[in-house]
Amino acid sequence: MTYFNGYFDYNSTTPMSDGVIKELEKAFTLFANPSSSSKQGRECKNIINLARKYTADLIGAEPEEIIFTSGGSESNNFAVKNRLLKSIQQPGTIIVSTIEHSSILSIVDYFKKEFGFSVKRISPSRKGFIETNTILKALTPDTRLITIMMANNELGNIQPIYEIAEIAAANNIFFHVDGVQAVGKIPVDVRLLKVDSLSISAHKFYGPKGVGALYLRNSKNVHPLIHGGGQEKGIRGGTENLMGIIGMGQAALEAKESLSKWQAHFTQLRSAFCKQLFEKIPDAELNGPDDGKDCLLNTLNLYIPRIRAEALSALLEHKHHCIISLGAACSNNKVLNLSHVLKAIGLSEEKIKGSFRISFGQYTRMDDVRKLVEAIYQSYQVLMSVSG
Ligand SMILES: Cc1ncc(COP(=O)(O)O)c(C=O)c1O
Repeated sequence: MTYFNGYFDYNSTTPMSDGVIKELEKAFTLFANPSSSSKQGRECKNIINLARKYTADLIGAEPEEIIFTSGGSESNNFAVKNRLLKSIQQPGTIIVSTIEHSSILSIVDYFKKEFGFSVKRISPSRKGFIETNTILKALTPDTRLITIMMANNELGNIQPIYEIAEIAAANNIFFHVDGVQAVGKIPVDVRLLKVDSLSISAHKFYGPKGVGALYLRNSKNVHPLIHGGGQEKGIRGGTENLMGIIGMGQAALEAKESLSKWQAHFTQLRSAFCKQLFEKIPDAELNGPDDGKDCLLNTLNLYIPRIRAEALSALLEHKHHCIISLGAACSNNKVLNLSHVLKAIGLSEEKIKGSFRISFGQYTRMDDVRKLVEAIYQSYQVLMSVSG
């Protein structure tokens, strides 16, 4: 079995599972165009449709409600664009939380700047939760879209999506959910949640990178994302990413089968990690939910006073071969990279600089957790000794 000790950054990306790699190996020789009417072409189309079924099953959707994309960012962009382009003549209000992924925040800003939409930004509570009364307060008669993520990538908070969907439905407002961090970690059922669209990304649940999907409840009168040869119901033209889709289908199948096992595993890892870490460094603090309630159990965002998380992360990597994260992987591309999520929950610059994220995955073992705590403790002592 594939095994990645020292890797504690599963929210950033996951390795492909052995099952996914096996399916991809089998698929290497498939070369027909899925749109071709030849026997081989039809075979490829059937394989895509099976992957579509597995992906749909993972989130309680129907296969025809799934549009394959290149990942979470594209799915988010597409969902927002599709809804807002319909109101371009009468731009109204967009309600969005301040802790969304950059693929949501930037497309919303784009519509504000280019088309005159107004944006109401919802701040989370100190522990990272979006409270439904803040959504109710933000509603205006011209609200065109509410977009809230299901689980936050940095803190792990699981937001009250069902309640927000009820508010959106009662007011006839389109509700998009970024489900990228939730899908494959907690049960997600779009039918129960009654959301209008939801984004998925395969590389967050042991599938390949560069492939994802958008669940779209109603695909009538959609603005095509890519005008082309009619693939994906005419919504996203272009020859399908066959390998990526096969990998995603297999990953979705495995995630559905293993979800409860993974959740139980994360519960154990989380409680062992917290017990051991707080024993060694009692003044460490959890930035996200304290009790693990309404939270991704694999995710811990921590603050350790008097140290720089950047230095800690470097020591962990180079001395102990442990990979952790300072925040969202993509925000590392920016020059000034203080986490907008930690800012949004009101942490001071000092606290943000002392904060880091640990995220476990299916391959994390109890022994890895013990080694990680020891590595953090040793690095902490080094940093304390040099800071005087
Ligand atoms: C919450 C969230 N949304 C969207 C994305 C983007 O997904 P992708 O990397 O597939 O574009 C990420 C990736 O980190 C994420 O964490």
